[in-house]
Amino acid sequence: MLIENQKRDGLRILVVGGDPGLAEKVRQCVAQSQPPASVQWLRNAALALARVGGGDIDAVVVDPASTRPGGDDLGDLPERLRGASKRTQTIVVSESRDWTADLRRIVAAGVRHAETSGPRPAAREARKTKIIGLLGAKGGVGATTVALNMAVALGEKCAVVLAEFGAGNDTLALHVRTTAKSAQRPGAALDGLWPVKGIPGLRLALAQDGLSPETAAGALEAMEAEADYLVLDLGSALTPLVKSALPRLDALGLVVDLEILSVECARRVVSAIGQPDLGPRGGIGIVVVNRASLACPIGVDEVQRLVGVPVWGAVPPAGDLCSAAQKARRPVVTFQPESLAAQSLVQVASSFAELT
Ligand SMILES: Nc1ncnc2c1ncn2[C@@H]1O[C@H](COP(=O)(O)OP(=O)(O)OP(=O)(O)O)[C@@H](O)[C@H]1O
Ligand SMILES: [Mg+2]
Repeated sequence: MLIENQKRDGLRILVVGGDPGLAEKVRQCVAQSQPPASVQWLRNAALALARVGGGDIDAVVVDPASTRPGGDDLGDLPERLRGASKRTQTIVVSESRDWTADLRRIVAAGVRHAETSGPRPAAREARKTKIIGLLGAKGGVGATTVALNMAVALGEKCAVVLAEFGAGNDTLALHVRTTAKSAQRPGAALDGLWPVKGIPGLRLALAQDGLSPETAAGALEAMEAEADYLVLDLGSALTPLVKSALPRLDALGLVVDLEILSVECARRVVSAIGQPDLGPRGGIGIVVVNRASLACPIGVDEVQRLVGVPVWGAVPPAGDLCSAAQKARRPVVTFQPESLAAQSLVQVASSFAELT
């Protein structure tokens, strides 16, 4: 099976040049990548051409300026590398504005290849990151819980970035433990992506407080390049920043609690984003989170009727489990995967994946 092979072999990256520092930078750049990437370093241009001609190298990173002279005309080495294999992507360090971003994009595209059986270059070109937004119909209804658990569930098989896009107190960092310390401050869209302990497919972009509607598009594009799914925790307010992200969404999940105030807020949100150019390019659906363990005043069917959009998923009351998972700073879906709440959160993730 292709997906199994991909998992076992990972991607192969060849670094060509006389500078061991370049190979080290490439290794650091793909250290956390999914699927894993192996990096080989070759100084010799002729050997590199033969290696690429073998057809199993996914990407070459070359710096002609640092390649050791060996009697060859090294100025045309990038061209010769490109000619050696059509399926290998060639990155020329001196020609790229940000070669590390190019490399990460190629590696992220390799994940999509693992899911398809088409020819590799075509699959790369066809790759398209799905963007899913979760917006609380009012504060505290479980938007972050749904976004996080959805991202973790999708991260089992795909590369996922979960980004906080909401206003107010950003709580994502309190729900999970991030691992490697980033050199950048949290939130700097690319270099500030934080790996999550025990969940290799997922990285977090914490509170995007430096973002404005003007800079959001660039940040979203940068994060898109990193993942198959970009999940946005949009908080609970239609701020200018959130509004600027809505048209890019392949699906918007409105998180609604089973109580009148939340349902009314959801109805208002749907009416506000019904205006032209403001709504998501994909569909809008409701995720009901029944946080109240007491008998609820309204049923799921009624929520659908009152808000006027379909219910795409529902999560049962699980107050004790949620607070235990939160205390352990682990997502519910990995903390107690057999629980009803975890299973419904996984189901919500699959529904969104199917709908995008
Ligand atoms: N199914 C559930 N049953 C009971 N409690 C839940 C459930 N899902 C989430 N909670 C709890 O509800 C509280 C709020 O959850 P969460 O932080 O996800 O909401 P939010 O909408 O992101 O809030 P905010 O508006 O502050 O961003 C948390 O204590 C969480 O553990
Ligand atoms: Mg939240």
